Amino acid sequence: MRKLAAFLSLVFLIMLSGCGGSTSSTTTTPPPVLPPSPPATASADVRADYVVGQLTIDEKIQLVHGGAATDWWNHTLPRGAAGYVPGILRMGIPAQYSADGSVGVGNRVGQATALPSSMASAATWNLNNAYRYGQVIGTEMRAFGMNVNLGGNINLSGREPRNGRTFETKGEDPLLAGKITAAHLKAIQDQHVVAGIKHYAFNDQETGRFTANVLIDERAARETDLLAFEIGMKDSNVQSVMCSYNLVNGEHGCENSYLLNSVLKSDLGFQGFVISDWDATHTTVKAALNGMDQEQPETLYFGSTLKQAIQSGQVPETRLNDMVHRILRAMFAVGIFDFPESIKPIDANTNAAIAQETEEQGAVLLKNNGVLPLNGPGLTKIAVIGSHADIGVLSGGGSAQVTPVGGPALTEGTPCPPCWAPAVWHPSSPLNAIKGKAPSASVTFNDGTNAGAAAALAANSDVAIVFVSQWESEGMDVPSLNFIDVIHSTPIDQDALVSAVAAANPKTIVVMENGGPKVMPWLGNVGGVLEAWYPGQRGGEAIANILFGDVNPSGKLPITFPASVNDLPRPIIAVPPDSTTSFDVDYNIDGINVGYKWYDSKGLTPLFPFGFGLSYTTFAISNLQLTPNATANTGFQVSADVQNTGLRSGAEVVQVYLELPSSSGESKRLVGWEKVSLAANQKQTVTIQVAANDSAQPLAYWDTSTHAWRIPSGTFTVYVGNSSRDLTQAGMFTVP
Ligand code: BGC
Repeated sequence: MRKLAAFLSLVFLIMLSGCGGSTSSTTTTPPPVLPPSPPATASADVRADYVVGQLTIDEKIQLVHGGAATDWWNHTLPRGAAGYVPGILRMGIPAQYSADGSVGVGNRVGQATALPSSMASAATWNLNNAYRYGQVIGTEMRAFGMNVNLGGNINLSGREPRNGRTFETKGEDPLLAGKITAAHLKAIQDQHVVAGIKHYAFNDQETGRFTANVLIDERAARETDLLAFEIGMKDSNVQSVMCSYNLVNGEHGCENSYLLNSVLKSDLGFQGFVISDWDATHTTVKAALNGMDQEQPETLYFGSTLKQAIQSGQVPETRLNDMVHRILRAMFAVGIFDFPESIKPIDANTNAAIAQETEEQGAVLLKNNGVLPLNGPGLTKIAVIGSHADIGVLSGGGSAQVTPVGGPALTEGTPCPPCWAPAVWHPSSPLNAIKGKAPSASVTFNDGTNAGAAAALAANSDVAIVFVSQWESEGMDVPSLNFIDVIHSTPIDQDALVSAVAAANPKTIVVMENGGPKVMPWLGNVGGVLEAWYPGQRGGEAIANILFGDVNPSGKLPITFPASVNDLPRPIIAVPPDSTTSFDVDYNIDGINVGYKWYDSKGLTPLFPFGFGLSYTTFAISNLQLTPNATANTGFQVSADVQNTGLRSGAEVVQVYLELPSSSGESKRLVGWEKVSLAANQKQTVTIQVAANDSAQPLAYWDTSTHAWRIPSGTFTVYVGNSSRDLTQAGMFTVP
């Protein structure tokens, strides 16, 4: 003890005398003296620059890659995150925990509110509801301690509606998809979570997704998917962009200088960071120089190899500083530094109500020969058939899979290649909800595995409600547009089931649970069809509310339902020759004409057009008025009267389309809409402003000679109606 005291006083004396030798100075290294940091009121850029200036090269490298092991799929990252970047304590930099979240918080973080699919959110055509949808994701991300969201799938699914990820997307139109996605992302970032938009770009098929090489020319690229990204990004100020697995014109998404440097960072002025899709990084120097900022989820290319590339001068250190600046400025911009994490239980009840509201506004009534809405007290025998409607509703699979509040009602199917994981049925029973609407009726369930038994039940019922479903997932495309059972080892032929039931009872109503467009060989024989998409945590209740008229359907299709797979731009999905060789997918076939523009330009009649959806009431749109002086600088204003001409209140989506002068070679495009709620007989004038400088470039085409948007001179035609194929009002203006 005395020896220790003597030693300590010796050390003290050495320190006081300032004569510390090398040994004592290593044991007493003081913390670095930092210059005063900028105040919280300084801009995110100033604050990020300050921190970058304090970091060592190793600390900077630490921030530009994920912290997962190389065999990351065998491990669980902290908090069940999909990606993890450790923080830097001495600088107060929080760790980054990322989680998926296109349709609710995904991955293994815990039970979260399962929202209806993003396609259902787009089908609401309601930006306020879309904001609340994003708020559910944002608040739950934060409650789980996640601060980087990987949702925001904005790939234009009209190019390939068999894509297994169609349910994560917002449909085929850049304007609708862009504005709905922006509302989601803004809401997420308002909760101090970095939001993400993905998969940049042209990642529209899962077949061969790692090696597919999309061929697309400049104009088509800028006017379609890249325009959707432009709108989604500019309108939300989103802080991260996920580069995609596929190649575009010969270069992988995560090392594609045209996409990342020229378009995203230069033309569009994106100031946040580019995060790789999981294992989508292929190089160090090329990816670093061509615009990727953070490798995920591990350290194959942006760890020691990047450090070496910097030390050898192959990658300038200024580029590393830029990557780190972008990551930190994103964290500052959304408030991760200023709003410390707060892990707590999610508000499941509030969020389930938003899930239900989304489904009630997003389900699309496709057919009704008068059988709907059902009159609960007037029915004595109801048959409910198929798709586990007794226990739950289906969800889409892959990284967007949500583990619902209450746990899955059922998981089904064999985990296998090409399946990602079993199908998950969320715990919301349509059967129970239907029973609640018709308390005095006998409501009988038949599982649909035997069409004859189902038909016998239907024949003996007042009405038959058949649930058909299509499980879809990341990692696979669906083989056709028919309802194909990919879950059961003995597949159920759902088309035959519907036909048999409809033959037994003309009062057959089909409720569809699926990700995207479907063909319906039985359409002419059934009384009603409701497109419920993947309906989420309260799907059963929402579906019953619509079937029984407590909610008047108001959803509109965000994607065209073609009459046949043969009408698609690429009737056969391109298949890779093997797992490593790249193969071409030719997007120049449809080019600028994605979705309804394809069907318009080819004169094809879809089964159901973009923008279509029925209501239990009727609406009349009349009296189109255009501002007299539309110019290239101001854009234009259009107004029209919309009247509820039926007997019950409801909501209509007034849609505005614009046809550019014929010199542009374009068919009509959506340029605006408004969803209006009207009581029976109520009439309202709707005014829609189409600003020329909107992020959607509504009056312009992409001019490849100047590499810029250009508003052509000539006659523009404005159409107003309630679907892309029901445009009863038209007017014209001229731009000199
Ligand atoms: C998907 C991304 C997802 C990531 C992390 C990838 O397989 O393509 O969309 O964000 O996994 O889960």
